[in-house]
Amino acid sequence: MIIAIDGPAASGKGTIARRLAERFRLPHLDTGLLYRATAAALIGAGRDLHDERAAVAAARGLGLTDFDETVLRRREMGEAASVVAAMPGVREALLEAQRAFAARPDGAVLDGRDIGTVVCPGADVKIFVTASASARAQRRALELAQRGERVDYAAVFADILRRDARDSERSAAPLRAAEDAVRLDTTRLSVEAAVAEAARIVEVARVRA
Ligand code: DC
Repeated sequence: MIIAIDGPAASGKGTIARRLAERFRLPHLDTGLLYRATAAALIGAGRDLHDERAAVAAARGLGLTDFDETVLRRREMGEAASVVAAMPGVREALLEAQRAFAARPDGAVLDGRDIGTVVCPGADVKIFVTASASARAQRRALELAQRGERVDYAAVFADILRRDARDSERSAAPLRAAEDAVRLDTTRLSVEAAVAEAARIVEVARVRA
């Protein structure tokens, strides 16, 4: 069973994907980490973030496991990731590894922006997770504070709006719900309630399959 979870930054899709993977005993790939790791490799090499050729080389050189999440989850890495993620060459370079992950014998859970539309258009279950921009900014600010980062709510809110715009308006695999995706608005849901609803959506799809 392939489960595709898409949605904007801090919508709750990562937590939902991780918890579904545990529940249905499937491997999980957070595809945002690939874009974050690509940006981190560029920054680490002292290259310009807008140098597409260097970004494509960095994307091609990634392994799927060598991620230092402490660095990659930082606020500026999310910003930088959304810049390299708009480059068609970078997306192309990362596509095969994501599809190979999804093709594991028992299936997989993948979360990102274009899983249901581009990476796994034939996924068994597609969930598009949303939440209001202010709810997402509050969650992201809390998450960053828990990681020990100094947070300025207004700056986090501005980041969310900027990333929404960049991820949705780019021409290469923009953020949008697949036509056959089930929408899940988590604005007023606790984590437990959102995970329970997502699991129910998966169970319904499983019965229908
Ligand atoms: O989900 P995240 O915040 O870790 O993602 C970081 C950036 O990577 C996000 O702004 C857009 C990009 N991304 C993407 O374009 N496609 C994906 N499948 C996953 C992430």
